[in-house]
Amino acid sequence: MVRRVSGPALCPDGTKTEINGLHSVAHLPSLARRLCNELGLSDSEAATTFDWVATNDIEFGWFIPTYGDGPTLTDRSSMVPPSNELFARVSNAAERAGFEYLLVPVAAACWEAWITTAMMIPQTSTIDMLVAARPGVIAPTMMAKMISTFDQLSGGRIRVNLIAGGGERESRADGVYLDHDQRYEFMDETVTLMKQCWANNRPFDFAGKHVRAENVDVRPKPLQDPHPPFYIGGISPAAVEVGTKHADVYLFWSNTFDQIAADIATVREAAEQHGRGDKLRLGLRSHVLVRESAEEARTAVETLIAGATESMRTNRENSLGAESHADARMREVASAASDMDHWLTDTLWAGITTIRHGAGVTIVGSADQVCDTIQGYVDLGITSFCLSGYPHDDEATRFGDLVMPAFR
Ligand SMILES: Cc1cc2nc3c(=O)[nH]c(=O)nc-3n(C[C@H](O)[C@H](O)[C@H](O)COP(=O)(O)O)c2cc1C
Repeated sequence: MVRRVSGPALCPDGTKTEINGLHSVAHLPSLARRLCNELGLSDSEAATTFDWVATNDIEFGWFIPTYGDGPTLTDRSSMVPPSNELFARVSNAAERAGFEYLLVPVAAACWEAWITTAMMIPQTSTIDMLVAARPGVIAPTMMAKMISTFDQLSGGRIRVNLIAGGGERESRADGVYLDHDQRYEFMDETVTLMKQCWANNRPFDFAGKHVRAENVDVRPKPLQDPHPPFYIGGISPAAVEVGTKHADVYLFWSNTFDQIAADIATVREAAEQHGRGDKLRLGLRSHVLVRESAEEARTAVETLIAGATESMRTNRENSLGAESHADARMREVASAASDMDHWLTDTLWAGITTIRHGAGVTIVGSADQVCDTIQGYVDLGITSFCLSGYPHDDEATRFGDLVMPAFR
């Protein structure tokens, strides 16, 4: 297993250790032995320690806005259109700020994710690309080949965010005539087949309910062993079932601590049933806005949706996440917070969700407030933070300056 581990991490015995870089299986035992000699732990404790470190080290991801960027979501005149220059500027700001990966989304309004991520590799140095992919749009064996080729050519810098729970309208526009739960079935078969593609050295046949293939022979094999990590999000029973079976990182959209704790309990229970309780890392997809002071942050966040029109709000109601349980939850959150100027708590603001589908809660505040809120999620078990903020280059830089040092 090749894993990227970095920064300070707490061992199970509470000792702090510093590990940086990409470690392969070959490295892990010797590194673990050396460290654990120093810590006075046995060889088997060493292996457990490294497994533990790999899944509990906190990682931060940022976002490339492949539909364009801007300081607000409402003022079209200040919008920066998608371009190689914009994507590279955001990617470089995120890399400088210390983020470990970049989520590249998929939607009709977005530029194509695989091409964008591939273009960003030579324009950055170390940051990984978390490419969003909708099973069914690309033939599963081709997706396996694209991932492993990307992995080889980039030196192990790809992760994959599998998406099934969007809306039927966009699926059908891509020629996929499956309903919500069928798309998760298709995802399950796709991942199962892809894993076989990478594990098998001889041609094989695959017959699922939705996917069939004969004489499958995929090369190259991935560089990361056994394969690049999968990130899967969603709160529907279908998402929980498939996500806990296949994901390396299970993602939630930010919400109150109580709600996230309840979702984590559901996911942990399902993961246990798949015998993966200790293997699944938990992640949070959230917007963030940090400023020098709490007052400055509260003022700045209001500008994100300043001047929102009735038609923007109506469009959101009819928007793409129609069948998504996660998106329905966001609509509930928006309505629950509507009497409180969209504030769910002192530092969680749901304004974005009134005009846009998808993850809609923003972590807002001074550096201390944002750090405390993130730490609150860490205390619940979240260790991967997939963040975004407007405009994406400036907010990545602010986060890197004001928040990142507290977690490094
Ligand atoms: C980190 C993350 C990124 C996502 N990116 C996209 C995306 O790029 N395109 C998309 O259609 N949906 C995206 N989604 C939405 C997923 O489709 C989401 O998991 C789905 O709406 C969950 O629906 P469910 O709760 O009904 O299973 C994303 C979700 C997460 C957690």
